[in-house]
Amino acid sequence: MDLLESIDCSKLPKHVAIIMDGNGRWAKERGEDRVYGHHEGVISVREIVNASAEIGIQYLTLYAFSAENWNRPKAEVDALMELLVNTIRKEIEELNKNNVRLHIIGDFASLPAICQKELNEATELTAGNTGLNLILALSYSSRQEITEAARKIAVSVLNGTLKPEDITDEVFHKHLYTADFPDPELMIRSSGEYRISNFLLYQLAYAELYFTSVHWPAFRKNNLYEALLNYQQRERRFGKTSEQIQTNTNQHV
Ligand code: FPP
Repeated sequence: MDLLESIDCSKLPKHVAIIMDGNGRWAKERGEDRVYGHHEGVISVREIVNASAEIGIQYLTLYAFSAENWNRPKAEVDALMELLVNTIRKEIEELNKNNVRLHIIGDFASLPAICQKELNEATELTAGNTGLNLILALSYSSRQEITEAARKIAVSVLNGTLKPEDITDEVFHKHLYTADFPDPELMIRSSGEYRISNFLLYQLAYAELYFTSVHWPAFRKNNLYEALLNYQQRERRFGKTSEQIQTNTNQHV
């Protein structure tokens, strides 16, 4: 049977987060330059965004460039930034056609001016879309995000607008880059590495983790469907017992 037909669309994760890994290895295996892998990775991005929008996922976060990625060779960083600008420019029409709204999380100010301009335009041009929310993590570091949140909260305490006893999980969440989004229920990492790599450390607290050996440029919609099916076969207990979950499935939403 078709993988897509096996998915229960009433039990989809609202938010899927993906660490797109393996572009370099995929290219190397083909005797090509790493940048070729990133170019091919964009084709996977397009396919996964469209498949997610089609199936009805509400939020998709893609880890496109980590704060640590600035340490890569300059030529690769420049190529990635150029690829990002060109891809965004080319894809706006398709995003609008598919009712996809673009958001950016990360250290926006550290991106080259041309990237900032292109991304600002794209987020504005897609702001009215009501389908899939596509969240690109760029120059993103989860530890930096958490540290910044703590700093903002400390300032509010210092100036008297927040009391220490009022700092709840919810308040903390509101100070993260992801304040407007629900936490991911499913995190996928391609390319066979079993790490979280400074990605959404706070938000992934209860996420199901799915690892596949497939390199990102080879990761296509059937791989997404496989991950969704695997997710649907798991029992999410949130610290409760299996019996509690089975007697009241509503308790864990
Ligand atoms: C990880 O592979 C991938 C990246 C650091 C960049 C991801 C970027 C893209 C897929 C293209 C641009 C994205 C958008 C949204 C337009 P790697 O280079 O770490 O691979 P390796 O681990 O095999 O070296």
